[in-house]
Amino acid sequence: MAGTDLFDPVEFNGLKLKNRIALSPLTRARATADGHAGELQATYYSQRASAGLLITEATAVVPGGRGGPFLPGLWDDSQIAGWKQVTDAVRAKNGLIFSQLWHAGRLSHSSLSADGKSAPVSPSAFEQPGKIFTEQGPQPFEAVHVMTTAEIADMVEAYRQAARRAKEAGYDGVELHAAHSYLISSFLNDMTNQRDDAYGGPIENRARFLKEILEAVLTVWDGTRVMVRLAPLGHAYGTWDTNPEPLFTHVIDMMNGLGIGWLDLVEGDTGVTRTPDPYFDVLKLRDRFNGPTILNNLYTRDMAIDAREKDTGDIIAFGRPFIGNPDLVERLKKNAPLHEADPRAYYAGGPKGYIDFPTLEEA
Ligand SMILES: Cc1cc2nc3c(=O)[nH]c(=O)nc-3n(C[C@H](O)[C@H](O)[C@H](O)COP(=O)(O)O)c2cc1C
Repeated sequence: MAGTDLFDPVEFNGLKLKNRIALSPLTRARATADGHAGELQATYYSQRASAGLLITEATAVVPGGRGGPFLPGLWDDSQIAGWKQVTDAVRAKNGLIFSQLWHAGRLSHSSLSADGKSAPVSPSAFEQPGKIFTEQGPQPFEAVHVMTTAEIADMVEAYRQAARRAKEAGYDGVELHAAHSYLISSFLNDMTNQRDDAYGGPIENRARFLKEILEAVLTVWDGTRVMVRLAPLGHAYGTWDTNPEPLFTHVIDMMNGLGIGWLDLVEGDTGVTRTPDPYFDVLKLRDRFNGPTILNNLYTRDMAIDAREKDTGDIIAFGRPFIGNPDLVERLKKNAPLHEADPRAYYAGGPKGYIDFPTLEEA
């Protein structure tokens, strides 16, 4: 630990981070049924504001973009005020916070859509095995509606509007969730994109949806405040790209071309392993990317210190360790024991297992 800069302040893209530790985006399912955040989320995020950078839970750009009940959104102006409470509370503690903008794609359910009956959307037909948790309990994933080009244009606009609301809510920036088999990632990956129009086929076409979203978001935010989350080797929900190196190399070049400020790189399969097949060294993407790169997935204290020593990434994001340890930064600094939160409370609702974990001082 001697000599590590993990806990030192650092400046990237004009933002002063307290340290090189980030809160990885974590869905916690404590919004209202109509997707509003508020006091509860303000408490939760401000408790974790000692991280250099906070990235919120996935926040849906349209109602049917949610992957389950009680997940929040930024699809309506009425949702701005609740997030403003969050950003005010984080800023009061000198924290920085980005909103993760999201659409779950086929991994949503008609009961979550605006009219309560519209099928989940996807670039191509795909039969998703397994079940989704709904207000009526677990239900099989449904047949998807294949997006028309007009619907793609509407979705790009939904991202732009959500990005505008994030700005009005006082965020420091936005992250586009382009990982984990959700909508953007379903366009990128060849297993889930069999379109034969301008949005499918060659890599450039499969990356077009993300490109158009980024261009739309850049009409609202400066590139220095825009981040993209990629999981090039992710196998979430059983889908991936069969040749990820050229695809994600292209995406990085595209991000550089657009002046995107930040890369959030999930190494391996989120929450599962760091080196699944098909294998390529995803850290090459960090070398290629012009801005700072956040690394994530299964990091321990030692691994984070080692990553900084070897300079494999600029910032290390922790997910699960932050759930039960609001003062994770302090605990890592002191090499203090970490509390392991009960996974049954991850999405359980209410304050229990959410905002009731003591800091070292309080324990
Ligand atoms: C309860 C839970 C919720 C998550 N929600 C999100 C999310 O909303 N957006 C996202 O990009 N990743 C999400 N993830 C993935 C985490 O950001 C992270 O990639 C993963 O937990 C691996 O990091 P860790 O080993 O430090 O926990 C979630 C993970 C967990 C455990």
